[in-house]
Amino acid sequence: MDSIKNKVAFVTGGSRGIGQAIVRKLVLEGANVAFTYTSSEASANELVKELSTTEAKVIAIKADNGDADSIVSAIHTTSQTFGNLDILVNNAGIGTIATLSDISIDNFDRIVAVNIKGVFVAMQTGAALMNDGGRIITIGSTAGSRSAYPGTTVYGMSKAAIAGLTRGVARDLGPRGITVNIVQPGPIDTDMNPADSQFANVLRSAMALGHYGETSDVADLVAFLASPSGKFITGASINIDGGLEA
Ligand SMILES: NC(=O)c1ccc[n+]([C@@H]2O[C@H](COP(=O)([O-])OP(=O)(O)OC[C@H]3O[C@@H](n4cnc5c(N)ncnc54)[C@H](OP(=O)(O)O)[C@@H]3O)[C@@H](O)[C@H]2O)c1
Repeated sequence: MDSIKNKVAFVTGGSRGIGQAIVRKLVLEGANVAFTYTSSEASANELVKELSTTEAKVIAIKADNGDADSIVSAIHTTSQTFGNLDILVNNAGIGTIATLSDISIDNFDRIVAVNIKGVFVAMQTGAALMNDGGRIITIGSTAGSRSAYPGTTVYGMSKAAIAGLTRGVARDLGPRGITVNIVQPGPIDTDMNPADSQFANVLRSAMALGHYGETSDVADLVAFLASPSGKFITGASINIDGGLEA
């Protein structure tokens, strides 16, 4: 993989789970990284401390993905702090397993705000500040293309929406050499989807590989797409799901 050394990255939701692994990987590859969090301040600070021994710089910014002004401000802070923006990773996301009759309108609105509107705002703000040849990578879900079990209703809708958004924005930004892709994980062991939950066995039984992925599996793919080696991949929805959709 070619280097992303000295590139500037902005990652949403980097305090835990997949986002934390993405921040760690990009920093270890030499990028300067700003990441957001909402409630896990202690984990965010620990990650900054852990990575402070590297050559690259890392900052944590409290910013709710459901609040457009916070995202705009966090992205401006990133480009002012590091003098640039090359890589945007939309990772922050929330989900509730609930069927049509069970999901409240408030919950619907919150999922739409965090998972869809926040991604749109970050893409619009990030693209305006980004260098030509930059990268936009969004974490969707296999639930965006296939509903493998009941209860993915609104979460799956949100992930399908950002897959559509990704394709359109890839067309919009192609002339500037900015690639725009969506990475769609299957079951990855995190607080959102723990590998030791009761539900986990149902998922494992539907996967070709029969086991959960690790957060670093997703981070490695994101780092590849962010690197110069990923320059001809755009508008793509890439599954990383242990064969859930095989
Ligand atoms: N794990 C899976 O199996 C799986 C599968 C497919 C797709 N995904 C997707 O992968 C992404 C990461 O999931 P995960 O499993 O790592 O989830 P997670 O363990 O729940 O971690 C979520 C991260 O996002 C942050 N976050 C949540 N709401 C936020 C908000 N409103 N604004 C800013 N940051 C926010 C959290 O920070 P705070 O704690 O500070 O709030 C945390 O750092 C999500 O988009 C999810 O939909 C996950």
